[in-house]
Amino acid sequence: MSFRGIIIILSLFVLGVAFSGFAAYSETVVHPKEEVTIDAKKLVSQNCAACHGKDLKGDVGPNLHERGQLLTEETIAQIIHDGVNGKMPPMGGGGLKNDKQVEAVAKYIASLGDQK
Ligand code: HEC
Repeated sequence: MSFRGIIIILSLFVLGVAFSGFAAYSETVVHPKEEVTIDAKKLVSQNCAACHGKDLKGDVGPNLHERGQLLTEETIAQIIHDGVNGKMPPMGGGGLKNDKQVEAVAKYIASLGDQK
């Protein structure tokens, strides 16, 4: 291989390393907020406790510790999204702003049964 060929390959290598370093750097700097974890417990006390009780053991709405044990995460997410027969209002798009928050709350409610 010619000397020029080696120089070209070497500089491509150096450029590649520099670029991947830059890409990794810009990723962590540009999207720091996406790393913030969702505080499901807080969302529940803000959006569900008014009807399901401060300790979620029932008030206007049923005891979520008991329901959490019987229902799957998917079903709970569906209920949060759609509400129940006009008796519970749909909560997605209200206090819970996106599917990620709905999923986090559903997971939390489903786990309540395990904590007993
Ligand atoms: C305005 C009052 C109200 C709010 C706010 C509310 N709920 Fe409800 N919820 C109810 C009522 C009433 C029922 C019972 C409906 C029925 O009679 O089947 C219910 C039922 C449910 C059920 C189904 C229980 C079952 O076994 O059928 C789940 C799960 C549930 N709520 C979770 C939540 C979660 C999670 C939140 C917060 C994101 C929430 N609810 C907010 C009033 C409310």
